[in-house]
Amino acid sequence: TSAQIGVTGLAVMGRNLARNFARNGYTVAVHNRTATRTRELVAEFGHEGDFVAAETAKEFVAALERPRRLVIMVKAGDPTDAVIQEFAPLLEPGDMIIDGGNAHFADTRRRERELREQGIHFVGTGISGGEEGALHGPSIMPGGSKESYEPLGPMLEKISAKAQDGAPCVTHVGPDGAGHFVKMVHNGIEYADMQLIGEAYQLLRDVAGYSPARIADIFRTWNTGRLDSYLIEITAEVLSHVDAATGKPFVDVVVDQAEQKGTGRWTVQIALDLGVPVSGIAEAVFARSLSGHAALREASRGLAGPKPAALDEAEAAVFADRVEQALYASKIVSYTQGFHEIAAGSAEYGWDIDLGAVSAIWRGGCIIRAAFLDRIRAAYDARPDLPSLLSDETFAREIAAAQDDWREVLVAATRQGVAAPGFAAALAYYDALRAERLPAALTQGQRDFFGAHTYRRVDRDGSFHTLWGGDRSEASA
Ligand code: 6PG
Repeated sequence: TSAQIGVTGLAVMGRNLARNFARNGYTVAVHNRTATRTRELVAEFGHEGDFVAAETAKEFVAALERPRRLVIMVKAGDPTDAVIQEFAPLLEPGDMIIDGGNAHFADTRRRERELREQGIHFVGTGISGGEEGALHGPSIMPGGSKESYEPLGPMLEKISAKAQDGAPCVTHVGPDGAGHFVKMVHNGIEYADMQLIGEAYQLLRDVAGYSPARIADIFRTWNTGRLDSYLIEITAEVLSHVDAATGKPFVDVVVDQAEQKGTGRWTVQIALDLGVPVSGIAEAVFARSLSGHAALREASRGLAGPKPAALDEAEAAVFADRVEQALYASKIVSYTQGFHEIAAGSAEYGWDIDLGAVSAIWRGGCIIRAAFLDRIRAAYDARPDLPSLLSDETFAREIAAAQDDWREVLVAATRQGVAAPGFAAALAYYDALRAERLPAALTQGQRDFFGAHTYRRVDRDGSFHTLWGGDRSEASA
């Protein structure tokens, strides 16, 4: 029997992806470093489709029809390189290695280049949707050569999530590292979405005085409107969950220190390199890191805060509606920043990424899936050269309608001493972008003063320097 696709690395993501291929009628070769996992998979799920269990790398490669499609689902970093080194010598020109892990796009670019010399296609592929997505249909972001997409694309389309209009949530994102870059930004946006939701929760709790169960109901209501999304949906689930051992809200028995595996941090690091202001995503990463500094937080507990003021029932209800506005407006800003980073990465690396196509494949399957993404797709479809999501008329109008409430929420947060860095960063970005004049002119003056770094003038071309230490006359630089 020859298998149309092979999956090596059968931890939960790899196993579920292999099952997804098999359930869609493909013969799937499966392989794992320790063969017990392979045997377990076939024993447990063999009835779901056609699996070929391979014990060795040689057997695995031999089981695959040509061009070989070999999916590796191992930890990003060194383990991925180790698996590539193991399999690449066994492959032939035209074969492809599909890396479905959360690899750094720079690693993907290097691996693609190295394998290309051998005639092997390396397809760095972002896969989002967690365990359930891998099994029932993830959002898939393949990079690599256009050529490799021809024999691979139809299979990915089959196993991917489908958007509401039936479109498969997969597209050839662009060459070499484009797929993993887009997955990285997806995760950065995921961090921002989660942070904004967290701030909304905290404000409803500490300013409105609501219980987790009540806040869960509010999120359920929001989920029927424009915020309709997977993350809002699971937020309601988590908030309404009660800890069996203590009878307390689950959210109150979990240690409040958020962990991370690195993709959000990468999004910010790369944004800094590209010079793209992703302040909302950065605040989300920093908020996780701040939460983890237990000793620093402990040492800061006694610091002064404002006197708390309780809202009455009617005020609380008004406030809750305002938080929805603030959350929505801040979300628009996060996506604006994320898409800016994708556009910048695409320009830097010559990927020619279609932003409308990216928003289309995020409509289903992935962690940030949301009704909202269809509106982003529409914005880019209407104007593929949109300079920023904020310049889309619909989004601009929605923010215009939300901004008064957005500001009021930040006033309340500030007055009550509740940190809302995501909301605040988003509003600052919005206000800075729309400002007629920025204090950057003063910054330039200071730079010129202490370092003769020169400045440009609003009324004449060229670079200038003022003789600050002398008669303060201006010289052309
Ligand atoms: C996805 C997720 C996934 C990621 C988790 C955890 O798209 O399915 O992004 O790839 O592993 O979100 O990330 P952190 O551990 O960094 O929170």
